[in-house]
Amino acid sequence: MASDVRVIRGGAWLSPLISSAVAASTCWLARLARMMNRADRKPGDDLSLGPSFKAAMRRLSSSVTIVSTRDGESRWGMTATAVTSLSADPPSVLVCVNRGASIRAHLRSEARLCVNLLSSEHAALSRAFSGEVEPERRFELGNWDDADDGIPYLCDAMASLFCEIDQLIEYGSHSVAVGRVYSVKLGPSASPLIYGDGRFLDAT
Ligand SMILES: Cc1cc2nc3c(=O)[nH]c(=O)nc-3n(C[C@H](O)[C@H](O)[C@H](O)COP(=O)(O)O)c2cc1C
Repeated sequence: MASDVRVIRGGAWLSPLISSAVAASTCWLARLARMMNRADRKPGDDLSLGPSFKAAMRRLSSSVTIVSTRDGESRWGMTATAVTSLSADPPSVLVCVNRGASIRAHLRSEARLCVNLLSSEHAALSRAFSGEVEPERRFELGNWDDADDGIPYLCDAMASLFCEIDQLIEYGSHSVAVGRVYSVKLGPSASPLIYGDGRFLDAT
């Protein structure tokens, strides 16, 4: 009986120690969780930036292109401004394609595509290739031909850059294709079709 009392008395001085150890580890765990949360978050994850980002991008005017490709018997094309020169060594371009776009399923490593630079005469064609016309009927409009390897190109484009996809990088909503240019057709030098502030702009 006497030893039982000693055990109970011993437990009495242990319990504050245990509870302060529990409190310390809880605090430490909470700090660790906060640190991990901070490590997961990246600048720009704040979605409230969306409207100002879009407003800024409307002020970034760009040349309009149509990106075209072939998959078996079918031709696919999409209006795109998120196209840029990457390097002259090797000659290469970047093409950013929304993962939901109909052409995306037909782009894979080593697939070929053509970037057709549009002139100011091509505004209606650009609208057709950006959703006004269903993907399967787009090539009924405009002056298209097939290159020797079957890749469709716009005969009266200011220039057509034929590329083989070296890399496809997935980033957020888009796939970024790194296209190595293997052939170029120069068309008529004309006024480029420019898109900015949500509309086609006069480049002259
Ligand atoms: C001027 C203009 C530029 C565009 N640029 C791009 C682009 O760079 N990348 C992209 O994925 N979509 C771009 N789009 C949207 C596509 O053209 C559009 O979503 C197109 O319809 C593709 O989807 P679909 O083939 O499934 O209809 C652009 C649209 C317009 C009008």
